[in-house]
Formats: sequence, structure tokens, C-alpha cells
Amino acid sequence: MKYFFVIGDRTSQSLSPLIFNHWFKVYKIRAKYSYVEVNKNNFEKTLLDKIKNKKISGFNITIPFKKNIFKYLDVVNNHAKNIDAVNCVKVIKTNKGINTDWIGYLNSIKEFKINKSKNIIVLGYGGASKAIVYGLFFKGYKNVLVFNRTKKQINFKEKKMFTKQYRIINKHLSTADLIINTTPINPLDKKQIKTVSKNTVVSDIVYKPKNTAFLRNFKNNKKIYGISMLIEQAIPCFYYWFGFKPSVDEILIKKINKKINK
Ligand code: ATR
Repeated sequence: MKYFFVIGDRTSQSLSPLIFNHWFKVYKIRAKYSYVEVNKNNFEKTLLDKIKNKKISGFNITIPFKKNIFKYLDVVNNHAKNIDAVNCVKVIKTNKGINTDWIGYLNSIKEFKINKSKNIIVLGYGGASKAIVYGLFFKGYKNVLVFNRTKKQINFKEKKMFTKQYRIINKHLSTADLIINTTPINPLDKKQIKTVSKNTVVSDIVYKPKNTAFLRNFKNNKKIYGISMLIEQAIPCFYYWFGFKPSVDEILIKKINKKINK
């Protein structure tokens, strides 16, 4: 029996156990995935106790410990180093960490065929946004504007940029092909929402509720829901642990929808 878990501050709400245990069942893998809820004070001790256990084969790290995990890892891949966050660890003799959030986001927009010269607006620049923006630049998207309420530096390879202020967003909204909200709120006011074209794809990374305070404003636009990124980031994690890509079947979608529509 192999054991996996997700560690973070509100993991009792996490859908990762549901997703991975579903795949273990489908592929008849003798493994169990659970959650470990920690806070700043007990993170280190709990984690070390956990990984001492020889039966642990891997784990996920979530908010707010994706950075704190670095010092417990022997190897971290370059993408995770660049993003400065690890969300997936493989434990086999050594602890190896990767970041699959950026891959997850890129895969969640694949079906919308957004080409590299399209105008992309990212709202917010927190931890998850950092992975998304990195992914967009890495993939070669040229016109990406990131807005944040506080000015933050964005590093990509030798390029150094800064986030933009919301007060200059108006002139960019009407020409955006994709708007990605990475904040927990809706940062656009009614007037700004009105300037967004019906052809703009709107995306949010929050998955509960499905129709977030941001997405709700765009009745006629194509939408990318937060749940896509969650599922898509789990696929490369599973691949990292087991060496093959699991499929997202209808039963899994049904199980997830039941949870997020509650
Ligand atoms: P995560 O790591 O999950 O992305 P986070 O680091 O808390 O979460 O980031 C949340 C993002 O939402 C940040 O960009 C944050 O802006 P700041 O960097 O200025 O803190 C943004 N955010 C949160 N609450 C906001 C609000 N009320 N208005 C505008 N932006 C907000």
C-alpha cells in the first residue's frame, strides 16, 4: 500500500483526495490519498513526521506552504525554482519537488485555442498567479498584462517587469482576448465589465462557487472555470508519481460537481 496526502492550512476542504482516490480505484492502484491540515506552528513537525514514514510515496502542498517546502527537498526542478513554489513532491529515497500549477492552467485553456499574439489580462499577482504568468510567458504569449493592487516585480528569465495599476486597466479591457481573475474577489466595477467584449474568454481560478463573483458578470462570454485548473494540475502530479496520464472520466466530473455545487 502506498500513501499520499495534501498538506496545507484548509485541506479538509480540498478536492485532491477525491480526485486521486478516484484514479487509484479506476487504475486498481493500492494506494490511499488523505489530507493533513496544518498551521504555521505545526507545519514543520507534522511534515517531518509524515515523511519519515516509509510508506509515503508522494504528497501535494497547498496554501500557504508552497514556498516553505523548499528546505525539506533534495531536488527541485527548474520550473518550480523559477515560480518559487512547489505543489507536488515525489518521495523515493530523496524528496523531489515540481510545480504543476502552471501546466494545469495552460492545459485548462488549450481547448480555447488562444494563440500567442492574443491580448491577455491577468488580475492579481499572488502565488497562483505567479505560476500562471510564468506558464504564459514560458509558452510564448507575448501580450500579457498583469494588474495588481500593490506593485510587484515579475521576473521571467532576464526580463524584469512590474505589475500594472488598476487605474490604467480601462484602455486595455475592450481589446482583451482572455481575462484571468486570480484574486478571491471581482476586481472590476460595473462600468469596466461593460467594456469587455462578448468575444473575450473569461477565466477564474476559484472553483467554489463555480460561477464566481467575477464570472457571474459575463453571461454571454465563454468561460474557463476554476475546476479545470484544479483537475489539470492533478494530472501531471499523478504522471510524476505513476508514469502515466490518468483520464478524467464522467464519474469523476460528477463526483467533483456534487462537491462544488453544494
Ligand atoms: P494565492 O496565493 O492563492 O494566489 P494570494 O497570494 O493571497 O493568494 O493572492 C491573492 C491575490 O489577490 C493577490 O494578487 C492580491 O493582491 P495583493 O498582492 O495586492 O495582496 C489579490 N487580492 C486579494 N484581495 C484583493 C482585493 N480586495 N482587491 C484586489 N486584489 C486583491
